[in-house]
Amino acid sequence: MLQESLEIRGFRIFKGCLDAPAQSALLEDIRAIVRAAPLFSPMTPYGKPMRVQMTSAGKYGWFSDRKGYRYERRHPDGQPWPPIPDSVLAMWESLVDPNRHPDCCLLNFYRDNARMGLHQDRDEADFSWPVLSVSLGDDGLFRMGNPTRGGKTESIWLESGDVVVMGGEARLTYHGIDRIRPGSSRLLPKGGRINLTCRVVD
Ligand code: SIN
Ligand code: MN
Repeated sequence: MLQESLEIRGFRIFKGCLDAPAQSALLEDIRAIVRAAPLFSPMTPYGKPMRVQMTSAGKYGWFSDRKGYRYERRHPDGQPWPPIPDSVLAMWESLVDPNRHPDCCLLNFYRDNARMGLHQDRDEADFSWPVLSVSLGDDGLFRMGNPTRGGKTESIWLESGDVVVMGGEARLTYHGIDRIRPGSSRLLPKGGRINLTCRVVD
C-alpha cells in the first residue's frame, strides 16, 4: 500500500494507494458483501430514487427514504449487514486509527450515468473521526467545495486504487461525484465505479 499523499482543502488523497493485486483482492471481498447484502437504490427524502446503488458492511448501514438519511442496523431485506472485510479494516488501521474500527463501510456503485450531488457526510455522532474512501473501477470526477454550500470548488479524478481520507477541515466539507468515465478501468468486467466509505457512527 503506497502511503504518499497530496492534500487539497484538507482532503488527503493517496493516488495509486492500492496496486492491481490489492484491487482484485478487495473486489473479491466486495463481491462477498454484495452477495450477503444486495445493492439497492435508496429513495431520497424528496421521493426520487438515488442514481447510485448502495449497500453496507459493518454494525450499521447507511440508509435513506422519505423519512430522511440515517444509519440502520439491518439491510432493507431484514438481515444484519455483513462484517467489514479485514482488507478494509487494515487500511483503516494504517491510514486512520489502529485502536477504533469504523462502524459502517458504505458501498456505492456508480453505473455509467450515475453521479452524486455535492453533500456533507453528517449523519454520524462524532465528526472528529475521519471518513476513509476507497475507489475501484472506472474513474470518478470528485468535486471538493467548502464547509457551507456554494463558493469555488476544486476537482480531481479518482482512479481505481485511489484512497481519500476526509478528516479535519475536510470532514464537513461539501463533496460529490460529478460523473464517471465509462470504460476507463478494466477491473470490473461490466464497468462502473465502486466507492467504499468507512465511518465511525456512534
Ligand atoms: C460519498 O461521498 O459518499 C462518495 C464519494 C465517492 O463516491 O467518491
Ligand atoms: Mn460523502
